[in-house]
Amino acid sequence: MNKSDLKGKLPLLAQGKVRELYKLPDNKLLFVATDRISAYDVILGNGIPDKGRVLTALSRFWFDYLKDVVPNHLADHGDVIACLPESIQSDSDLAAVLKDRALVVNRYKILPLEVIVRGYITGSAWNEYKKTGTVHGTQMPAGLQESQAFPTPIYTPSTKAEQGEHDENISPEKAAEIVGKDLAAKVEQIALALYKKAHDYAQTKGIIIADTKFEFGVDESGNVVLVDEVLTPDSSRFWPKDSYKIGQGQDSYDKQYVRDWLVANGLKGVDGVSIPEDVANKTREKYLEVYEKLVKA
Ligand SMILES: Nc1ncnc2c1ncn2[C@@H]1O[C@H](COP(=O)(O)OP(=O)(O)O)[C@@H](O)[C@H]1O
Ligand SMILES: [Mg+2]
Repeated sequence: MNKSDLKGKLPLLAQGKVRELYKLPDNKLLFVATDRISAYDVILGNGIPDKGRVLTALSRFWFDYLKDVVPNHLADHGDVIACLPESIQSDSDLAAVLKDRALVVNRYKILPLEVIVRGYITGSAWNEYKKTGTVHGTQMPAGLQESQAFPTPIYTPSTKAEQGEHDENISPEKAAEIVGKDLAAKVEQIALALYKKAHDYAQTKGIIIADTKFEFGVDESGNVVLVDEVLTPDSSRFWPKDSYKIGQGQDSYDKQYVRDWLVANGLKGVDGVSIPEDVANKTREKYLEVYEKLVKA
């Protein structure tokens, strides 16, 4: 399902790279995960079958596992259809589409930060470190090797760019300027606690969570609430623990086939490219494997 079609039954509020958000009464949202996939910052023409379902189920799992660390935006008690208007409940085709790929959530004011936590040095952090010895502007110990664990996980926020723009890595000080010192400190502490708890759990399932991105909202009383998706392959780097090796890049669980295919075909970063069915299917297997390892095993 590459695009949801609610046949005008609810007003569409926003469309992100992957999700569609519809307005519900009482300041709630219907939060629908499609099968769209982005790679190298562009959305591909075709989706990964079942991806939206996997992201939704994984997020539900983590919201529950982490609920003692911080409250979250879930508002459907696990039964999304029961929370929707009668016009949707009685449309069995529509209900079947939404059942496993949608959440009803409370709508919050979203902090304009991508709250990234990194346990291992890779990606843009590794690139910066190689040049300057810093990560998001903060000095790091000398002699770190690619993919090595930081002495302790670090909070490395970035801006939340408008659609079509790139997020920008910023220092914790800059993040404090954007949302205020107290709120930034609270968010940092919560994000590190979430990462540590999830990382330790995933280790026991053979997965290394190298880094991840959280988003937070604030309620009317100023309380911090965990929103969006949580600890999915789209918001995180998951590495198989078996093949982890310091001093090199790691296999990632999810988009490697897609990225490799795009690069091999000279289509990296080109808009609207469709990938062959076998590449999409192999990628689907990867998403399912992560889910099964983390939740089922
Ligand atoms: N509880 C919430 N209330 C309001 N907005 C939310 C909530 N949870 C997530 N969002 C927003 O919904 C959007 C999710 O759609 P997605 O396709 O993931 O977007 P993006 O392309 O920005 O990653 C994001 O902009 C996110 O900030
Ligand atoms: Mg998103």
